[in-house]
Amino acid sequence: MAMQAAALVPSAFSIPKEGKGSASFKESGLFGVSLSDHVKADFSSSALRNKRKPSVGAIRAQTAATTPAITRATPEGKKTLRKGTVVITGASSGLGLATTKALAETGKWHIIMACRDFLKAERAARSAGLSKENYTVMHLDLASLDSVRQFVDNFKRSERPLDVLVCNAAVYLPTAKEPTFTADGFELSVGTNHLGHFLLARLLLDDLKQSDYPSKRLIIVGSITGNTNTLAGNVPPKANLGDLRGMAGGLNGLNSSAMIDGGAFDGAKAYKDSKVCNMLTMQEFHRRYHEDTGITFASLYPGCIATTGLFREHIPLFRLLFPPFQKFITKGYVSEEESGKRLAQVVSEPSLTKSGVYWSWNKNSASFENQLSQEASDADKARKVWELSEKLVRLA
Ligand SMILES: NC(=O)c1ccc[n+]([C@@H]2O[C@H](COP(=O)([O-])OP(=O)(O)OC[C@H]3O[C@@H](n4cnc5c(N)ncnc54)[C@H](OP(=O)(O)O)[C@@H]3O)[C@@H](O)[C@H]2O)c1
Repeated sequence: MAMQAAALVPSAFSIPKEGKGSASFKESGLFGVSLSDHVKADFSSSALRNKRKPSVGAIRAQTAATTPAITRATPEGKKTLRKGTVVITGASSGLGLATTKALAETGKWHIIMACRDFLKAERAARSAGLSKENYTVMHLDLASLDSVRQFVDNFKRSERPLDVLVCNAAVYLPTAKEPTFTADGFELSVGTNHLGHFLLARLLLDDLKQSDYPSKRLIIVGSITGNTNTLAGNVPPKANLGDLRGMAGGLNGLNSSAMIDGGAFDGAKAYKDSKVCNMLTMQEFHRRYHEDTGITFASLYPGCIATTGLFREHIPLFRLLFPPFQKFITKGYVSEEESGKRLAQVVSEPSLTKSGVYWSWNKNSASFENQLSQEASDADKARKVWELSEKLVRLA
Protein backbone atom coordinates (compact mmCIF):
# COMPACT_ATOMS: atom_id res chain seq x y z
CA MET A 1 0.00 0.00 0.00
CA ALA A 2 2.71 2.41 1.01
CA MET A 3 4.70 1.72 -2.12
CA GLN A 4 1.63 2.15 -4.29
CA ALA A 5 0.82 5.44 -2.67
CA ALA A 6 4.38 6.59 -3.03
CA ALA A 7 4.33 5.61 -6.68
CA LEU A 8 1.42 7.92 -7.21
CA VAL A 9 3.51 10.87 -6.21
CA PRO A 10 7.08 9.96 -6.96
CA SER A 11 8.16 13.56 -7.13
CA ALA A 12 7.33 13.91 -3.44
CA PHE A 13 10.60 12.11 -2.81
CA SER A 14 12.76 14.34 -4.99
CA ILE A 15 15.19 16.86 -3.53
CA PRO A 16 13.55 20.30 -3.56
CA LYS A 17 15.34 22.88 -5.65
CA GLU A 18 14.53 25.71 -3.32
CA GLY A 19 14.36 23.53 -0.21
CA LYS A 20 16.83 24.50 2.45
CA GLY A 21 17.99 22.25 5.25
CA SER A 22 17.69 18.53 5.41
CA ALA A 23 14.14 17.65 6.29
CA SER A 24 13.48 13.95 6.50
CA PHE A 25 10.54 12.47 4.66
CA LYS A 26 8.88 11.96 8.02
CA GLU A 27 8.70 15.70 8.49
CA SER A 28 7.32 16.56 5.09
CA GLY A 29 5.20 15.22 2.27
CA LEU A 30 2.67 15.88 -0.39
CA PHE A 31 0.21 18.41 1.03
CA GLY A 32 2.12 17.60 4.21
CA VAL A 33 4.15 19.39 6.78
CA SER A 34 6.56 22.16 5.84
CA LEU A 35 10.30 21.77 6.20
CA SER A 36 10.26 24.15 9.10
CA ASP A 37 7.53 22.34 11.00
CA HIS A 38 10.09 21.13 13.46
CA VAL A 39 10.54 24.69 14.64
CA LYS A 40 9.31 25.07 18.19
CA ALA A 41 6.07 26.96 18.61
CA ASP A 42 6.26 30.28 20.39
CA PHE A 43 3.08 29.53 22.23
CA SER A 44 0.49 26.85 22.49
CA SER A 45 -3.25 27.15 22.29
CA SER A 46 -5.77 26.42 24.94
CA ALA A 47 -8.86 28.51 24.45
CA LEU A 48 -10.57 26.13 22.07
CA ARG A 49 -10.11 23.22 24.39
CA ASN A 50 -11.67 25.35 27.10
CA LYS A 51 -15.32 25.26 26.12
CA ARG A 52 -16.66 27.73 28.68
CA LYS A 53 -20.18 28.88 27.84
CA PRO A 54 -20.89 32.60 27.94
CA SER A 55 -23.81 33.94 29.89
CA VAL A 56 -27.27 33.94 28.31
CA GLY A 57 -27.33 37.73 28.56
CA ALA A 58 -24.22 38.00 26.43
CA ILE A 59 -25.72 35.76 23.78
CA ARG A 60 -28.91 37.75 23.51
CA ALA A 61 -27.07 41.03 23.19
CA GLN A 62 -25.31 40.16 19.94
CA THR A 63 -27.48 40.87 16.93
CA ALA A 64 -27.52 44.61 16.23
CA ALA A 65 -24.54 46.22 14.51
CA THR A 66 -24.50 48.93 17.16
CA THR A 67 -24.32 46.49 20.08
CA PRO A 68 -21.15 47.28 21.97
CA ALA A 69 -18.73 44.38 22.16
CA ILE A 70 -18.47 44.61 25.92
CA THR A 71 -21.73 44.34 27.87
CA ARG A 72 -22.36 44.26 31.61
CA ALA A 73 -24.84 41.44 31.52
CA THR A 74 -23.86 39.02 34.24
CA PRO A 75 -25.47 39.08 37.66
CA GLU A 76 -21.99 39.28 39.23
CA GLY A 77 -21.49 42.55 37.35
CA LYS A 78 -18.52 41.14 35.40
CA LYS A 79 -17.95 42.54 31.92
CA THR A 80 -18.78 39.95 29.27
CA LEU A 81 -18.12 39.86 25.58
CA ARG A 82 -20.99 39.71 23.12
CA LYS A 83 -21.00 36.81 20.69
CA GLY A 84 -18.63 37.44 17.82
CA THR A 85 -19.86 37.19 14.24
CA VAL A 86 -17.65 35.33 11.80
CA VAL A 87 -18.30 34.80 8.09
CA ILE A 88 -16.77 31.55 6.80
CA THR A 89 -16.84 30.85 3.08
CA GLY A 90 -17.17 27.21 2.03
CA ALA A 91 -18.50 26.15 5.43
CA SER A 92 -20.51 23.29 3.96
CA SER A 93 -17.70 20.73 4.16
CA GLY A 94 -14.13 19.96 5.18
CA LEU A 95 -12.12 22.64 6.96
CA GLY A 96 -14.88 25.25 6.81
CA LEU A 97 -17.45 22.96 8.41
CA ALA A 98 -15.03 21.70 11.06
CA THR A 99 -14.11 25.29 11.96
CA THR A 100 -17.78 26.25 12.12
CA LYS A 101 -18.37 23.35 14.50
CA ALA A 102 -15.36 24.18 16.70
CA LEU A 103 -16.43 27.82 17.02
CA ALA A 104 -20.13 27.06 17.52
CA GLU A 105 -19.32 24.66 20.34
CA THR A 106 -17.64 27.43 22.33
CA GLY A 107 -20.98 29.28 22.40
CA LYS A 108 -19.07 32.50 21.74
CA TRP A 109 -19.60 32.83 18.01
CA HIS A 110 -22.39 33.20 15.50
CA ILE A 111 -21.18 31.73 12.22
CA ILE A 112 -22.41 32.94 8.87
CA MET A 113 -21.93 29.91 6.65
CA ALA A 114 -21.35 31.55 3.25
CA CYS A 115 -22.06 28.70 0.83
CA ARG A 116 -23.02 28.13 -2.78
CA ASP A 117 -25.36 25.19 -2.00
CA PHE A 118 -27.86 26.27 0.61
CA LEU A 119 -29.40 22.83 1.18
CA LYS A 120 -26.03 21.11 1.47
CA ALA A 121 -24.87 23.69 4.00
CA GLU A 122 -28.05 23.42 6.06
CA ARG A 123 -27.78 19.63 6.08
CA ALA A 124 -24.09 19.80 7.00
CA ALA A 125 -24.88 22.16 9.88
CA ARG A 126 -27.54 19.81 11.19
CA SER A 127 -25.44 16.69 10.85
CA ALA A 128 -22.66 18.49 12.72
CA GLY A 129 -25.16 19.05 15.52
CA LEU A 130 -25.05 22.85 15.33
CA SER A 131 -27.64 24.67 17.33
CA LYS A 132 -29.76 27.03 15.20
CA GLU A 133 -28.91 30.09 17.30
CA ASN A 134 -25.22 29.64 16.49
CA TYR A 135 -25.28 29.78 12.70
CA THR A 136 -26.97 31.26 9.61
CA VAL A 137 -26.55 29.94 6.08
CA MET A 138 -26.26 32.67 3.45
CA HIS A 139 -25.86 32.09 -0.26
CA LEU A 140 -22.48 32.92 -1.82
CA ASP A 141 -21.10 31.67 -5.12
CA LEU A 142 -17.52 32.88 -5.35
CA ALA A 143 -17.44 31.96 -9.03
CA SER A 144 -19.74 34.89 -9.77
CA LEU A 145 -18.88 38.50 -8.95
CA ASP A 146 -22.60 39.37 -8.97
CA SER A 147 -23.19 36.70 -6.34
CA VAL A 148 -20.35 38.08 -4.22
CA ARG A 149 -21.90 41.56 -4.39
CA GLN A 150 -25.34 40.12 -3.61
CA PHE A 151 -23.95 38.29 -0.59
CA VAL A 152 -22.36 41.49 0.70
CA ASP A 153 -25.68 43.37 0.28
CA ASN A 154 -27.53 40.60 2.12
CA PHE A 155 -24.98 40.55 4.90
CA LYS A 156 -25.12 44.32 5.34
CA ARG A 157 -28.93 44.16 5.43
CA SER A 158 -28.75 41.61 8.24
CA GLU A 159 -27.27 44.41 10.37
CA ARG A 160 -24.96 42.02 12.10
CA PRO A 161 -21.52 43.28 12.99
CA LEU A 162 -18.64 41.64 11.17
CA ASP A 163 -15.84 40.67 13.51
CA VAL A 164 -13.96 38.04 11.50
CA LEU A 165 -14.02 37.06 7.84
CA VAL A 166 -12.54 33.69 6.84
CA CYS A 167 -11.83 33.18 3.14
CA ASN A 168 -11.73 29.39 3.11
CA ALA A 169 -13.64 28.03 0.09
CA ALA A 170 -11.66 26.55 -2.78
CA VAL A 171 -11.82 24.33 -5.82
CA TYR A 172 -9.01 22.05 -6.98
CA LEU A 173 -9.16 20.57 -10.47
CA PRO A 174 -5.98 18.50 -10.84
CA THR A 175 -7.24 16.20 -13.61
CA ALA A 176 -8.92 18.82 -15.80
CA LYS A 177 -7.63 18.73 -19.37
CA GLU A 178 -9.24 22.00 -20.36
CA PRO A 179 -9.90 25.11 -18.30
CA THR A 180 -13.38 25.91 -17.07
CA PHE A 181 -14.47 29.43 -16.25
CA THR A 182 -16.39 31.49 -13.72
CA ALA A 183 -19.50 33.48 -14.65
CA ASP A 184 -17.20 36.41 -15.40
CA GLY A 185 -14.90 34.39 -17.63
CA PHE A 186 -11.93 33.79 -15.30
CA GLU A 187 -10.24 30.41 -15.05
CA LEU A 188 -12.24 28.66 -12.32
CA SER A 189 -9.57 27.96 -9.66
CA VAL A 190 -8.05 31.43 -9.60
CA GLY A 191 -11.47 33.01 -10.24
CA THR A 192 -13.02 31.25 -7.23
CA ASN A 193 -10.17 30.85 -4.77
CA HIS A 194 -8.56 34.24 -5.33
CA LEU A 195 -10.68 36.73 -7.29
CA GLY A 196 -14.02 35.91 -5.64
CA HIS A 197 -12.42 36.19 -2.21
CA PHE A 198 -10.51 39.33 -3.19
CA LEU A 199 -13.76 41.12 -4.08
CA LEU A 200 -15.53 39.77 -0.99
CA ALA A 201 -12.77 40.89 1.37
CA ARG A 202 -12.52 44.33 -0.22
CA LEU A 203 -16.27 44.89 -0.03
CA LEU A 204 -16.45 43.77 3.61
CA LEU A 205 -13.38 45.66 4.80
CA ASP A 206 -15.40 48.64 6.03
CA ASP A 207 -17.63 46.34 8.06
CA LEU A 208 -14.58 44.79 9.65
CA LYS A 209 -13.17 48.26 10.35
CA GLN A 210 -16.36 49.20 12.16
CA SER A 211 -16.31 46.16 14.41
CA ASP A 212 -15.78 47.02 18.06
CA TYR A 213 -14.82 43.45 18.88
CA PRO A 214 -11.54 43.24 20.82
CA SER A 215 -9.82 41.54 17.88
CA LYS A 216 -11.11 41.83 14.32
CA ARG A 217 -9.52 39.57 11.77
CA LEU A 218 -9.38 38.76 8.09
CA ILE A 219 -8.08 35.27 7.45
CA ILE A 220 -7.26 33.86 4.02
CA VAL A 221 -6.54 30.12 4.01
CA GLY A 222 -3.23 29.36 2.30
CA SER A 223 -1.48 26.12 1.50
CA ILE A 224 1.87 24.45 1.66
CA THR A 225 1.44 23.51 -2.00
CA GLY A 226 1.88 27.13 -3.07
CA ASN A 227 5.14 27.39 -1.13
CA THR A 228 8.15 26.14 -3.05
CA ASN A 229 10.32 26.26 0.08
CA THR A 230 8.67 22.96 1.11
CA LEU A 231 8.88 19.42 -0.25
CA ALA A 232 5.15 19.44 -0.99
CA GLY A 233 5.51 22.74 -2.84
CA ASN A 234 8.14 21.15 -5.06
CA VAL A 235 5.86 18.44 -6.39
CA PRO A 236 5.34 19.36 -10.06
CA PRO A 237 3.66 21.36 -11.36
CA LYS A 238 5.05 24.03 -9.09
CA ALA A 239 3.32 27.31 -8.34
CA ASN A 240 4.74 30.16 -10.37
CA LEU A 241 2.97 33.39 -11.22
CA GLY A 242 5.71 34.41 -13.66
CA ASP A 243 5.36 37.98 -14.88
CA LEU A 244 1.55 37.83 -14.44
CA ARG A 245 0.92 38.22 -18.16
CA GLY A 246 -2.05 35.83 -18.17
CA MET A 247 -3.62 37.68 -15.28
CA ALA A 248 -3.06 40.99 -17.02
CA GLY A 249 -4.84 39.50 -20.03
CA GLY A 250 -7.92 38.48 -18.01
CA LEU A 251 -7.38 34.71 -17.49
CA ASN A 252 -10.11 34.05 -20.01
CA GLY A 253 -8.37 31.66 -22.36
CA LEU A 254 -9.42 33.79 -25.35
CA ASN A 255 -7.18 36.79 -25.76
CA SER A 256 -4.96 35.55 -22.95
CA SER A 257 -3.91 32.31 -21.33
CA ALA A 258 -6.17 30.92 -18.62
CA MET A 259 -3.05 30.69 -16.43
CA ILE A 260 -1.62 33.58 -14.43
CA ASP A 261 1.88 33.11 -15.87
CA GLY A 262 0.54 32.94 -19.42
CA GLY A 263 1.48 29.27 -19.85
CA ALA A 264 -0.48 26.21 -20.95
CA PHE A 265 -3.43 25.24 -18.78
CA ASP A 266 -2.68 22.94 -15.86
CA GLY A 267 -5.43 22.47 -13.27
CA ALA A 268 -3.13 21.50 -10.39
CA LYS A 269 -0.88 24.49 -11.06
CA ALA A 270 -3.86 26.84 -11.30
CA TYR A 271 -4.86 25.77 -7.76
CA LYS A 272 -1.33 26.30 -6.42
CA ASP A 273 -1.09 29.68 -8.16
CA SER A 274 -4.42 30.67 -6.60
CA LYS A 275 -3.01 29.81 -3.16
CA VAL A 276 0.04 31.99 -3.81
CA CYS A 277 -2.39 34.81 -4.65
CA ASN A 278 -4.24 34.12 -1.36
CA MET A 279 -1.04 34.41 0.65
CA LEU A 280 0.19 37.49 -1.25
CA THR A 281 -3.20 39.15 -0.83
CA MET A 282 -3.18 38.62 2.93
CA GLN A 283 0.22 40.35 3.15
CA GLU A 284 -0.84 43.21 0.88
CA PHE A 285 -3.94 43.77 3.04
CA HIS A 286 -1.63 43.85 6.05
CA ARG A 287 0.69 46.43 4.46
CA ARG A 288 -2.15 48.64 3.30
CA TYR A 289 -4.57 48.46 6.21
CA HIS A 290 -3.26 46.95 9.42
CA GLU A 291 -1.79 50.08 10.96
CA ASP A 292 -4.80 52.28 10.24
CA THR A 293 -7.55 49.78 11.05
CA GLY A 294 -6.11 47.47 13.70
CA ILE A 295 -7.45 44.52 11.72
CA THR A 296 -5.33 41.38 12.04
CA PHE A 297 -4.61 39.86 8.62
CA ALA A 298 -3.48 36.24 8.68
CA SER A 299 -3.08 33.15 6.56
CA LEU A 300 -2.40 29.55 7.51
CA TYR A 301 -1.62 26.07 6.42
CA PRO A 302 -4.01 23.86 8.39
CA GLY A 303 -2.18 20.58 7.67
CA CYS A 304 -2.92 17.89 5.14
CA ILE A 305 -6.63 17.14 5.55
CA ALA A 306 -6.49 14.28 3.09
CA THR A 307 -10.14 13.25 3.47
CA THR A 308 -11.91 16.46 2.44
CA GLY A 309 -13.94 17.17 -0.67
CA LEU A 310 -11.02 19.18 -2.04
CA PHE A 311 -9.81 15.99 -3.72
CA ARG A 312 -13.19 15.11 -5.18
CA GLU A 313 -12.03 15.71 -8.76
CA HIS A 314 -8.97 13.48 -8.36
CA ILE A 315 -8.86 9.95 -9.76
CA PRO A 316 -10.46 7.32 -7.46
CA LEU A 317 -7.15 5.52 -6.83
CA PHE A 318 -5.60 8.73 -5.57
CA ARG A 319 -8.55 9.36 -3.27
CA LEU A 320 -8.24 5.84 -1.91
CA LEU A 321 -4.50 5.93 -1.27
CA PHE A 322 -3.88 9.55 -0.37
CA PRO A 323 -5.26 9.45 3.22
CA PRO A 324 -3.30 6.32 4.32
CA PHE A 325 -0.24 7.65 2.47
CA GLN A 326 -0.40 10.86 4.49
CA LYS A 327 -1.27 9.08 7.72
CA PHE A 328 1.33 6.33 7.70
CA ILE A 329 4.11 7.44 5.33
CA THR A 330 4.50 11.20 5.49
CA LYS A 331 2.70 11.59 8.84
CA GLY A 332 1.44 14.91 7.49
CA TYR A 333 -2.19 13.87 7.91
CA VAL A 334 -4.51 16.01 10.00
CA SER A 335 -8.13 15.11 10.73
CA GLU A 336 -10.89 17.49 9.72
CA GLU A 337 -11.67 18.00 13.39
CA GLU A 338 -8.08 18.94 14.25
CA SER A 339 -7.76 21.27 11.27
CA GLY A 340 -11.02 22.95 12.30
CA LYS A 341 -9.59 23.58 15.77
CA ARG A 342 -6.51 25.11 14.18
CA LEU A 343 -8.42 27.55 12.00
CA ALA A 344 -10.73 28.31 14.93
CA GLN A 345 -7.65 29.31 16.91
CA VAL A 346 -6.67 31.78 14.21
CA VAL A 347 -10.21 33.17 14.38
CA SER A 348 -10.48 33.51 18.12
CA GLU A 349 -7.32 32.87 20.12
CA PRO A 350 -6.23 36.06 21.94
CA SER A 351 -2.57 35.10 21.47
CA LEU A 352 -2.82 34.89 17.66
CA THR A 353 -3.39 38.57 16.96
CA LYS A 354 -0.14 39.26 15.14
CA SER A 355 -0.90 40.58 11.67
CA GLY A 356 0.77 39.57 8.40
CA VAL A 357 1.52 36.06 9.65
CA TYR A 358 1.23 32.66 7.94
CA TRP A 359 0.49 30.17 10.72
CA SER A 360 1.38 26.50 10.77
CA TRP A 361 1.35 23.83 13.46
CA ASN A 362 4.10 21.50 14.57
CA LYS A 363 3.78 17.79 15.38
CA ASN A 364 2.50 18.62 18.83
CA SER A 365 -0.24 20.75 17.26
CA ALA A 366 1.35 23.95 18.56
CA SER A 367 1.10 26.97 16.29
CA PHE A 368 4.10 28.85 14.96
CA GLU A 369 4.83 31.58 12.42
CA ASN A 370 5.94 29.82 9.27
CA GLN A 371 8.15 31.10 6.45
CA LEU A 372 6.57 31.73 3.08
CA SER A 373 8.43 30.95 -0.12
CA GLN A 374 10.24 33.71 -1.96
CA GLU A 375 7.41 34.18 -4.45
CA ALA A 376 4.65 33.96 -1.82
CA SER A 377 6.35 36.76 0.15
CA ASP A 378 7.37 38.98 -2.78
CA ALA A 379 5.99 42.43 -1.90
CA ASP A 380 6.32 43.77 -5.42
CA LYS A 381 4.41 40.83 -6.85
CA ALA A 382 1.77 41.21 -4.13
CA ARG A 383 1.19 44.82 -5.18
CA LYS A 384 0.94 43.85 -8.85
CA VAL A 385 -1.47 40.98 -8.10
CA TRP A 386 -3.57 43.41 -6.03
CA GLU A 387 -3.69 46.01 -8.80
CA LEU A 388 -4.52 43.50 -11.53
CA SER A 389 -7.14 41.84 -9.34
CA GLU A 390 -8.77 45.23 -8.70
CA LYS A 391 -9.15 45.67 -12.45
CA LEU A 392 -10.52 42.16 -13.00
CA VAL A 393 -13.19 42.46 -10.30
CA ARG A 394 -13.96 46.00 -11.48
CA LEU A 395 -12.92 47.86 -8.35
CA ALA A 396 -10.50 49.98 -10.38
N1 LIG B 1 -7.58 19.51 2.29
C1 LIG B 1 -6.31 19.86 2.47
O1 LIG B 1 -5.42 19.04 2.65
C2 LIG B 1 -5.93 21.30 2.47
C3 LIG B 1 -4.58 21.64 2.69
C4 LIG B 1 -4.21 22.97 2.68
C5 LIG B 1 -5.15 23.95 2.48
N2 LIG B 1 -6.45 23.60 2.26
C6 LIG B 1 -7.39 24.69 2.04
O2 LIG B 1 -8.48 24.52 2.92
C7 LIG B 1 -9.62 25.19 2.36
C8 LIG B 1 -10.84 24.29 2.46
O3 LIG B 1 -10.63 23.14 1.68
P1 LIG B 1 -11.17 21.70 2.12
O4 LIG B 1 -10.02 20.80 2.11
O5 LIG B 1 -11.99 21.84 3.32
O6 LIG B 1 -12.06 21.33 0.84
P2 LIG B 1 -13.65 21.09 0.68
O7 LIG B 1 -14.13 20.16 1.72
O8 LIG B 1 -13.84 20.75 -0.75
O9 LIG B 1 -14.25 22.51 0.98
C9 LIG B 1 -14.26 23.52 0.02
C10 LIG B 1 -15.47 24.37 0.23
O10 LIG B 1 -15.46 25.41 -0.77
C11 LIG B 1 -16.75 25.51 -1.28
N3 LIG B 1 -16.77 26.10 -2.63
C12 LIG B 1 -16.21 25.64 -3.76
N4 LIG B 1 -16.51 26.45 -4.79
C13 LIG B 1 -17.26 27.45 -4.28
C14 LIG B 1 -17.89 28.59 -4.83
N5 LIG B 1 -17.84 28.86 -6.15
N6 LIG B 1 -18.57 29.41 -4.03
C15 LIG B 1 -18.68 29.16 -2.70
N7 LIG B 1 -18.13 28.09 -2.12
C16 LIG B 1 -17.42 27.25 -2.91
C17 LIG B 1 -17.27 24.08 -1.30
O11 LIG B 1 -18.68 24.13 -1.45
P3 LIG B 1 -19.55 22.81 -1.83
O12 LIG B 1 -19.70 22.08 -0.53
O13 LIG B 1 -20.82 23.39 -2.34
O14 LIG B 1 -18.77 22.06 -2.85
C18 LIG B 1 -16.79 23.61 0.05
O15 LIG B 1 -17.67 24.04 1.07
C19 LIG B 1 -9.22 25.58 0.94
O16 LIG B 1 -8.88 26.94 0.92
C20 LIG B 1 -8.00 24.72 0.65
O17 LIG B 1 -7.16 25.34 -0.26
C21 LIG B 1 -6.85 22.31 2.26
